Amino acid sequence: MNEQDWDRVAKRFEQEIFNVPANDRKGLIAGAVQQYAKKRGVAFDIGCGTGRTIGLLAEHFGTVLGFDVSRECLAIAAHKNRAHQNATYHYADLVKNALPKPQADFALCINTLLLADHRKRSRMVAHVCGAVRKGGHLALVVPSIESVLLTHARHAEWQDRQVGKSHVPTPESENPKGMDVLRGIVRIDHVPTKHYSADELRSLLAMHGMNVLDVQKIEYPWSTEFDRPPQWMKAPQPWDWFVVARKL
Ligand SMILES: C[S@@+](CC[C@H](N)C(=O)[O-])C[C@H]1O[C@@H](n2cnc3c(N)ncnc32)[C@H](O)[C@@H]1O
Repeated sequence: MNEQDWDRVAKRFEQEIFNVPANDRKGLIAGAVQQYAKKRGVAFDIGCGTGRTIGLLAEHFGTVLGFDVSRECLAIAAHKNRAHQNATYHYADLVKNALPKPQADFALCINTLLLADHRKRSRMVAHVCGAVRKGGHLALVVPSIESVLLTHARHAEWQDRQVGKSHVPTPESENPKGMDVLRGIVRIDHVPTKHYSADELRSLLAMHGMNVLDVQKIEYPWSTEFDRPPQWMKAPQPWDWFVVARKL
């Protein structure tokens, strides 16, 4: 999706864009913000969207900068978070430009590194990692390719159990158009979207001078993948990867 696409989504953001922080039931994101909180420090919310995590950052850091390619999203973020006087909002296209200095003590980046195009996405990754100062921390959330594979295994199991019974809904990601599963490109809401493996994330971040400290799952209920999933479909559940890394 490009700048215009995100501007178009802005008004319907809450309905259309899955709310990761609200569904982070173990509180991994809030936990990392608290762990690296710095009352005089600078935090970036990179790809801040409509500002769901600005308040959390503003309570734990002296200065918060929200960056996004959508001016419409930035305007909503600024309005929703007007109580947080220590937060400001800035247009940035991570594909094209580095973020401005000074670098952040802590950067949060939730489901922003999603572009299917490898070259453009590589520049985004470089700019996100480059935005963190030496010794600072990055908390990153990205879709998991392993979770997609699990979803398809569960779907096959469901089909086996339902032979001759009611219809089993097909996961959207089964539609092969615009996909390159071997490279982690799977559709979300019809949009080819990069999904990462845990090892890919470790090596990618290491290449950008980051020491990965923690890789965890942010788990979601099966109802996020299937309409009315059957009772037996329990753990393991679908997930996004949550990574904390330190800039070397
Ligand atoms: C899935 S939304 C996530 C928003 C927010 N982090 C959240 O969790 O609610 C992805 C965000 O990344 C932003 N984005 C996409 N491409 C971008 C780019 N090239 N530069 C900066 N922001 C970008 C979009 O405008 C959108 O707000």
